[in-house]
Amino acid sequence: MSFMHIGIVVSDPKDWTACALMASFTRNGGQAVFLNFSELTSTIDGKMSYKMGEKSASCGHSFCSNGVDLLRLDALVVRDLGRRGVQDVAFRFEALQALESLGLPVINPPQAIARAANKFATSLALQRAGVPTPKTAVSTSPKDALRILHEYGKAVSKPLFGFKGKGIELLKDGDESDMEKLAAILEKDGLVYLQEFIALRSPRDIRAFVVNGKLMAAIYRVAPPGQWITNLARGGQAELCPITGELRDLAVNASRAVGAVYCGVDLLETGEGLKVIEVNGTPSGKGIFEASGVNVADAIAEHVLRPHS
Ligand SMILES: Nc1ncnc2c1ncn2[C@@H]1O[C@H](COP(=O)(O)OP(=O)(O)O)[C@@H](O)[C@H]1O
Ligand SMILES: [Mg+2]
Repeated sequence: MSFMHIGIVVSDPKDWTACALMASFTRNGGQAVFLNFSELTSTIDGKMSYKMGEKSASCGHSFCSNGVDLLRLDALVVRDLGRRGVQDVAFRFEALQALESLGLPVINPPQAIARAANKFATSLALQRAGVPTPKTAVSTSPKDALRILHEYGKAVSKPLFGFKGKGIELLKDGDESDMEKLAAILEKDGLVYLQEFIALRSPRDIRAFVVNGKLMAAIYRVAPPGQWITNLARGGQAELCPITGELRDLAVNASRAVGAVYCGVDLLETGEGLKVIEVNGTPSGKGIFEASGVNVADAIAEHVLRPHS
């Protein structure tokens, strides 16, 4: 059997999940290489036409990263695209889409990465798929934003492309300084993403990891004392979370809603049952492994190497 050649797109070669993926591919008979998209070049020769969807090195354009011709790979797994600014992130993402359209399997599919990265797109996809999610509004209008905050009473504002709990604010209706914060967010970003605040006596959320439509494992993330943001990057503590039918259904449906092959689904335990707040399309597997012993990289590698099994 010939080796499958897999590219793992990652900016930090010491990243736990990327290293776990590399080891899983090797163990399962694949050959993987790290690709840092800070070294990505595409050329367009302006000469030849090619058939749509044909993956061939002679299609008139090339994609090369770290000395690897990406069109010669059998699959590309995206751990993190990396970014310097708006221009290069658009280039990196467009390259992924082009590679996929040329027939290279890209995991996660670029469309899923985009939908998961954009919190408005995720909220919309969840609602449309019938997955319970807290009340949410996105607005470019200061007047409407104030009205929505008044309706929610307490709201969480999140950057549209936020991650690791960064830039998240709790805003209270009627609080002078919170009104100023809201105005400042709208002024700076041109919009605000507001979600009803789910108050929990001891704040924790659930991070569920889904691969290929299966819930692999889940952890609670318990916020540090006096805090309500639970991300592990913000000091949250991981604890094993039992898997219920409700958790399984919601996590799998949320994954399907964004079109991810693998993802981390964040859920809150509300008085009305579990609600999905976020789907992460480039999640870390480290916290899940440490708390549950489940190595999600094995399941991802298995799916990439044997997609139809
Ligand atoms: N509506 C909410 N009510 C209460 N806590 C929330 C709410 N939304 C987010 N949080 C807390 O903030 C954390 C980060 O929010 P999340 O939407 O997952 O964004 P990020 O992409 O930064 O992880 C969550 O894990 C949770 O602890
Ligand atoms: Mg999150």
